[in-house]
Amino acid sequence: MPLASEKLQQTEHVKKELDTVAQSAISATELMEKIVKLLHDRMPKYNWVGFYMLDKSSVDKAPTLVLGAFRGGMTPHIRIPLNKGICGAAASTGKTVVVDDVNKDPRYLACSIETKSEIVAPIFAHDEVVGELDIDSHFPAAFDHEDRELVEHCAAMVGKHLEKMPA
Ligand code: SME
Repeated sequence: MPLASEKLQQTEHVKKELDTVAQSAISATELMEKIVKLLHDRMPKYNWVGFYMLDKSSVDKAPTLVLGAFRGGMTPHIRIPLNKGICGAAASTGKTVVVDDVNKDPRYLACSIETKSEIVAPIFAHDEVVGELDIDSHFPAAFDHEDRELVEHCAAMVGKHLEKMPA
């Protein structure tokens, strides 16, 4: 396990790479593809990295989270209602949710039996939740405050991009 300062250096380095990547992305969709690839490649404990975007288009159905760009194994959770899962909790409250032991959280919707901990950060555009970035780890309590900053930084990058131009 890296020392605290090494971890900080690692996340700062990844943030710099993300800023470079963001400059070349011509759409939010491309930006999200690049973010999931970079986080999955560079952060050893980020074993599943994916975006869920909020679909409010159906007039007769409640808003639902829909799986977008992701890296890692296929998940059975392609669509998640806002009252379900850790994902639903983050989107409906507009707050980042960190779960150190998913098996102790009754909200948890299983994606892989290997997953031990999870972080979900909401994405805001024009002050409204429009989606979220979800990361699963095979390691318990994998997400500390530096991970939280990194994941929220990525979510904010996508939100800013969506404010400038649609996906
Ligand atoms: N675990 C999430 C579902 C999404 S998968 O992990 C990819 C949840 O509890 O909402």
